[in-house]
Amino acid sequence: MVSRLSLENVSYSYPLQGTGMALRGISLDARPGEVLCVAGSNGSGKSTLAQVCAGLLAPTSGSVLYDGKPVGSRVRLRKLHRKVGLLFQSPEDQLFADTVRKDIEFGPRNQGLRGDELAGRVDEASTLVGLSLEETGGRSPFSLSEGEKRRVALAGVLAMSPEVLVLDEPFIGLDRDGREHLIGALSSYLNRKLATVIVVTHDLSGTWPLADRFALLSEGRLLVIESKADLMSGEADMLALGVQLPQWGVLARELLHAGIALEDPSDPSCLAKALARRREVEDGR
Ligand SMILES: Nc1ncnc2c1ncn2[C@@H]1O[C@H](COP(=O)(O)OP(=O)(O)O)[C@@H](O)[C@H]1O
Ligand SMILES: [Mg+2]
Repeated sequence: MVSRLSLENVSYSYPLQGTGMALRGISLDARPGEVLCVAGSNGSGKSTLAQVCAGLLAPTSGSVLYDGKPVGSRVRLRKLHRKVGLLFQSPEDQLFADTVRKDIEFGPRNQGLRGDELAGRVDEASTLVGLSLEETGGRSPFSLSEGEKRRVALAGVLAMSPEVLVLDEPFIGLDRDGREHLIGALSSYLNRKLATVIVVTHDLSGTWPLADRFALLSEGRLLVIESKADLMSGEADMLALGVQLPQWGVLARELLHAGIALEDPSDPSCLAKALARRREVEDGR
């Protein structure tokens, strides 16, 4: 069974944050098997939300529910840690071991895996992210390039085979290849295991192909949760919220507002057909 993660009226303020609050009354429901993207500008509360979802921060008020049951007692929190994997915004916050192999092994080892089973999980996760353990397994993760560090960090999370995967700005600092690679790795994981994914990001282009629904976060409040199509055609002013819409997204919005329907705005052939249709309309044909 795939798990469901819900937040009910969750608020969070950091101990030294004074009267400010990082999250204000957030309610959301990540449905089993869906990819939910939470978009927001810097400081809107994305990393805080990611850590609350993963059980690393306990809400100041409100509750986190896992499969409908509130996470509260220590035992349940431990269970959450076993089932929910968080990829941190910065790989430096995630990596810690003196070799890449030990780093990736850490999670599944904690889950009690040993021997062939452990080795199998580590190999599988490394393959998914395109990391060769023959080359890098014995090296320090801190000696690797930024892109490789990301891969090691993601492999460490996937090696735990999480049912809920929370990704904090996974596309930051990656070039086009890096992005495509990451999307490929995540898609392969999701093909193997039906998991619920929450991605928090300020940049929609990486997440678009994967996401089922989008939520917009601003100053700790959740403004809307919409399907892709509704977000694209809707009135939410993403630029004003500091969320970058990919270029094709800007174009798709213009087309939609000119009354031209689009099935999948991220599909170039679909976009091309809609542009041709607009030309016909403009030419009065
Ligand atoms: N450790 C902390 N102590 C106090 N305030 C914090 C801490 N971490 C983040 N904040 C504040 O909480 C708000 C949300 O931060 P964060 O969740 O990191 O946003 P985002 O990831 O969207 O950039 C910001 O106003 C930030 O300054
Ligand atoms: Mg952040």
